[in-house]
Amino acid sequence: MVIALIEEAKVSYIFLEWTEFLVRWLHVIAGIAWIGSSFYFIALDLSLLKRKDIPKEAHGEAWQVHGGGFYQIVKYLVAPDKLPSQLTWFKWEAYATWISGFLLLILIYYISADLYMIEIEKFDLSNLEAISLSLIGIILGWVLYNYICKKTVKKNNIMLSIFILLVFTFFSWLYFQVFSHRGAYMQIGSMLGTIMVANVLMIIIPGQKKVVQSLLENKKPDSIHGITAKQRSLHNNYLTLPVIFIMISNHYPTIYATDYSWIIISLIIITGALIRQFFNIKHSGKKPPYLLWVPVLMIILFSVYLSEKGKPNLANNDERANAIIEQIPKDLKLASEEIIISKCSMCHAQEPLWENMTHAPKKIHLENVNDIIKHIDNIYSQAIVSYAMPPGNITGLENSERKILSKLHRFVKNL
Ligand code: HEC
Repeated sequence: MVIALIEEAKVSYIFLEWTEFLVRWLHVIAGIAWIGSSFYFIALDLSLLKRKDIPKEAHGEAWQVHGGGFYQIVKYLVAPDKLPSQLTWFKWEAYATWISGFLLLILIYYISADLYMIEIEKFDLSNLEAISLSLIGIILGWVLYNYICKKTVKKNNIMLSIFILLVFTFFSWLYFQVFSHRGAYMQIGSMLGTIMVANVLMIIIPGQKKVVQSLLENKKPDSIHGITAKQRSLHNNYLTLPVIFIMISNHYPTIYATDYSWIIISLIIITGALIRQFFNIKHSGKKPPYLLWVPVLMIILFSVYLSEKGKPNLANNDERANAIIEQIPKDLKLASEEIIISKCSMCHAQEPLWENMTHAPKKIHLENVNDIIKHIDNIYSQAIVSYAMPPGNITGLENSERKILSKLHRFVKNL
């Protein structure tokens, strides 16, 4: 469908791929800068020690060695008596991550909502309806979360976390009823990512600005800003790993596109939080709680089991595939089959002949025309419009052969 659209609009596939790739590049870089600095500050915070010789308003001090020099870092909580003349803020890493992420969401999911968000069998949404539902969710997720946090800021953080987890499990379930698997998965990722950035934009930075303002007016800053910022930083800390998991999982269909993928999201939120907990304790200089890896491993194994349980049942579904194949001209069928048998199936087979290869890469079997039809889109991007396959053109796939596969691709798409 998309390919037909591209051909009509005369926008080159390669141009679109580049655009998407550049935004993704930015997204990953901004994400690394943000998460990197956030990991750094958490570890720094946990390593602060109270020493006698630090200023009396200071909270703690740490020494670090890096890049050929020593750093002496002193933390003031809520703030030093006087505002320093030069102050570095950490916020654009977070904002740039969100902006580029939202652009990606538009470029991939919203523009092709029919492909990546809507599943007509669940709900026959129009593109606009799907996009609206997604935007409403992103805003509602934040509003609800923010409300719950504000109500409970001085109360038990564990109960709050469990409650938030339950709310998001409900959202996951809900979006899996309405959207396609992939759409629902990315929706939850977008909602959680938005919460993390909104914590920075709406709570942490404004709080810090108020503190700075108080200092400028020679007033004592309100300690509530420190408490709130700490709570939200803590949430961001625990959400980091799950959000990254969701963001990269859309390249792994067995993770996002099985019946129980919505439960897997919640399990991964718990897993990510446990892994962070391990490192938080380790960085604070205490004995690392190695036992935490037991539940982590068990939950991950259980998630694998859920993926296996929730996969589609393919028994007795050959009829339709056969009907399509009937229509392909005999020559094209034979030629394509010959190409993949001679150039692909040494690796992409039930029992690959390639040395040390125990199963077909990415479980893609290419041994007959049925297989080609099944993977036609993937073959298009891997071997027709790019040289990704065969790897290093190791089997010498010629351009004339790519052309034949391209003919088959067009034929199947136009059926
Ligand atoms: C020498 C072994 C080998 C040969 C020959 C080979 N492939 Fe692959 N193929 C791989 C490996 C390894 C991967 C997994 C790459 C990765 O992990 O990203 C792969 C992945 C793929 C994928 C999935 C890409 C994805 O990320 O979804 C497709 C489609 C594919 N190959 C098509 C082909 C086609 C078509 C041919 C023949 C023209 C071919 N391959 C020949 C080894 C091979």
